[in-house]
Amino acid sequence: MGYVGHRPALEVVLGGLRRLEYRGYDSAGVAVLAGQGLAVERKAGRLTNLEARLDEVGRDGFAGTAGMGHTRWATHGPPVDRNSHPHRDVTNRVAVVHNGIIENFAALRAELEAGGVEFTSDTDTETAAHLVAHAYDAGDTAGDLPASVRAVCRRLDGAFTLVVTHVDQPDLIVAARRSSPLVVGLGEGETFVASDVAAFIEHTRDAVELGQDQVVTITRDGYRVTDFAGEDVDTRPFRVDWDLSAAEKGGHEYFMLKEIEEQPTALADTLRGHFGDGRIILDEQRISDQDLRDVDKVFVVACGTAYHSGLVAKYAIEHWTRLPVEVELASEFRYRDPVLDRDTLVVAVSQSGETADTLEAVRHAREQKARVLAVCNTNGAQIPRESDAVLYTHAGPEVGVASTKTFLAQIAAIYLVGLALAQARGTKYPDEVAREYDGLCAMPDAVARVLGTVEKVRSLGRSLAEAKAVLFLGRHVGYPVALEGALKLKELAYMHAEGFAAGELKHGPIALIEEGLPVVVVMPSPKGRAVLHQKLLSNISEIQARGARTIVIAEEGDETVRPFADELVEVPAVPTLMQPLVSTVPLQVLAAEIARTRGYDVDKPRNLAKSVTVE
Ligand code: G6P
Repeated sequence: MGYVGHRPALEVVLGGLRRLEYRGYDSAGVAVLAGQGLAVERKAGRLTNLEARLDEVGRDGFAGTAGMGHTRWATHGPPVDRNSHPHRDVTNRVAVVHNGIIENFAALRAELEAGGVEFTSDTDTETAAHLVAHAYDAGDTAGDLPASVRAVCRRLDGAFTLVVTHVDQPDLIVAARRSSPLVVGLGEGETFVASDVAAFIEHTRDAVELGQDQVVTITRDGYRVTDFAGEDVDTRPFRVDWDLSAAEKGGHEYFMLKEIEEQPTALADTLRGHFGDGRIILDEQRISDQDLRDVDKVFVVACGTAYHSGLVAKYAIEHWTRLPVEVELASEFRYRDPVLDRDTLVVAVSQSGETADTLEAVRHAREQKARVLAVCNTNGAQIPRESDAVLYTHAGPEVGVASTKTFLAQIAAIYLVGLALAQARGTKYPDEVAREYDGLCAMPDAVARVLGTVEKVRSLGRSLAEAKAVLFLGRHVGYPVALEGALKLKELAYMHAEGFAAGELKHGPIALIEEGLPVVVVMPSPKGRAVLHQKLLSNISEIQARGARTIVIAEEGDETVRPFADELVEVPAVPTLMQPLVSTVPLQVLAAEIARTRGYDVDKPRNLAKSVTVE
């Protein structure tokens, strides 16, 4: 984050970092242009460590109205004080914070060291600080900070967002962007730059998103954007459609718990306005109806929880459209040779819209002439910008590192994409499409009912806090739900957890079953898919016979399941394709409660970060 304005920069920057900390919490640091020099403090660990350090040294030396700050998710060099940002040049005049990876840093470092520069960190970032200082001192760019930053950017490979200050230019801050996100916040007599609008939302909702390979210079009175060559670039300011209260915990102990509760609203807001005149409507569609009709194959590419939403949606899209759907991890997709052409629709799903692997998958797909549709929760992020069509999930800001409400919203959004395809291709009659849409619109209430009954799940969670491992089983749409349940438990409670397709049990996982091992089973409805229901009951018998403790998520009123359940969690009866929207919720609550009981920070699990902007 960077700030130039009329307020004490230190406090503004620390406030911003508090809201950006979900992006990384290995270390934190600040630099303020104070008097004649740079005041810098950096500390490994959470932002609170930095704040404690500032209290120790005193904040008087940080008086100034321009400054920058950073929270780090370590890539190059361990998370210790000396690798924390900001990094400086040898003369202490330039400070730089960086998000991304400078891929040619080793060569640049060798060149700088050959010229006598002594490095004080293991980071790739430090090279940028020295290079900017050199560019500012000599040659065509001497005395011109924006020009110096542009010249340096032209030498850097990889992904980088940089924020740079120089003591000789106390009234401006320069920031550059390649790949990793950067937004400018436009206030009254103050201007901000940050990785996310959340950093400055309490000061202004007016913002400008920087494009690829652009440099912005901010002053109190405004901003100027150019490309790396120095040509001016037109920008489009936008107004953020949520405010500070959405970004606060609202009385909850953790953001994640608040976000679990917000799921009915997230679903309703995502569905709202997408049906009119008897048709499904997307947000931005630069793909013609004819092209949608011509689609002969669908890929869903995503990472983490977003990938699981794609696995769920595959069942619906294939059923509704009769199109083959492949769901693939973005990091795998781009490094093999997927068969893509102009009749392939690639659906890129990403809460942040900035996940590096998903973004690169989008680029790869577009190079191969495939059409790309983004499902994204962040307005104007890079993935939607580079896609042919967009459907936004209106889940509001998600701060908890482990996704919850955006998972449900993503499923709903990809279902809308499936219905839009079915409508364009005529594989469903308009009244059938309308019925499915109405079915989706009934889901916020169903999810609200689940939330009303989770107290039992909480106490169950407390009883599982000492377990060594938990297995999750499901079939059909219950299978990706099992995967998601296991992922939540791994990331939040650091517990060994695996999700399996129940049919695979006898091909390996059953060997893991031993006396007392908790196994969560996601049951289908006895009415919807009776065969599946029957088969899962057999699977539960098999594990019960081997001593497992069975925790069964089943439809209300499903009496047949009772003898098989050591613990029964009931969810409302909904159509088969809608079941993931209700059955995931208890699994989120379970993981959160186990993690809390074990004393972990539910919002910021160790080693993770919410937006993974490096590959
Ligand atoms: C990280 C987060 C996950 C998220 C995944 C994909 O791993 O911890 O919660 O599902 O990234 O993020 P995206 O922003 O692309 O949905």
